[in-house]
Amino acid sequence: MSYFSGKGFLVTGASSGIGRDLALGLAREGAIVAAMARSEGKLTELAASAPAGRVLPVVGDVASDESTSRAVESAVNACGGRLDGLIHSAGISMSGRVEDVSLDVFREVMETNFFSTIRLVKAALPHIRQQRGHIVAISSIAGFVSYPFGSGYAASKHALQALLDSLRLELAPAGVHVLSVCPGYVRTDIAKNARRADGSKWEQSTKEIENGLDPAVVTRATLRAIEARKRQIAPAGLMEASGKILKPLAPGLLDAVMLKMYARGPLDGA
Ligand SMILES: NC(=O)c1ccc[n+]([C@@H]2O[C@H](COP(=O)([O-])OP(=O)(O)OC[C@H]3O[C@@H](n4cnc5c(N)ncnc54)[C@H](OP(=O)(O)O)[C@@H]3O)[C@@H](O)[C@H]2O)c1
Repeated sequence: MSYFSGKGFLVTGASSGIGRDLALGLAREGAIVAAMARSEGKLTELAASAPAGRVLPVVGDVASDESTSRAVESAVNACGGRLDGLIHSAGISMSGRVEDVSLDVFREVMETNFFSTIRLVKAALPHIRQQRGHIVAISSIAGFVSYPFGSGYAASKHALQALLDSLRLELAPAGVHVLSVCPGYVRTDIAKNARRADGSKWEQSTKEIENGLDPAVVTRATLRAIEARKRQIAPAGLMEASGKILKPLAPGLLDAVMLKMYARGPLDGA
């Protein structure tokens, strides 16, 4: 029997990409999943693709206190009065020079990728603590390595890493497991949904994302890491994994590689 059989999870960002694949993976392993995102139609389609009755769509915005409390309540009800884990995958990216990107874009990225984590943890922890369960956040290699034109995204993921490290230590005595998942490029809609400097959507993918990992690879690694109660995993291609290794050992070399890689400018070519 799977470790996840009969357990209850809340998965955010479940309408697309990594979150959608994680929700399906958990449901296929026998969990009951409350699947949260803003796109109702995509959540309904996800529920129809999953084993019958295992995925409950919860429409909501992770930037809203009210939505988040309601999502946690729905998850606990759907999962028979228990919640074994939170997987926070909702997130957005951005591209542009610091001098050009509007403050509103920085705020939206920090709100979605960082402050939402605090909001979700506050709402879900009382239930997860009872099960000595799991808090999982999808961070990024960008939580260790900043890159040109991705300042807001990298800052949000560095902040997320710090938050998870503190949380892991605070919750260890209560037996609550905290896992940080730090993927490299993964084939999802992250670039299409990324914000340009003026806040509009980029609407196109990139060759790095299209050549990235299949989300199923991240799902498999994440589910096994939850079961093994690991602290951090970094499913990534060779190039992104090398960046994480080079950062503390040879930061000057890493800068030189980055300058070459990003000579083309930000996504929007501004
Ligand atoms: N793809 C990569 O290369 C990559 C690499 C490293 C880390 N990551 C991280 O992986 C996570 C998932 O991203 P992805 O690649 O799967 O991208 P994606 O395909 O664009 O999915 C993003 C998900 O986040 C949800 N979301 C965004 N803002 C939200 C909000 N305010 N409230 C509720 N849900 C919201 C979206 O749903 P709605 O729009 O329906 O609300 C969607 O389900 C993110 O945290 C991202 O930073 C991705």
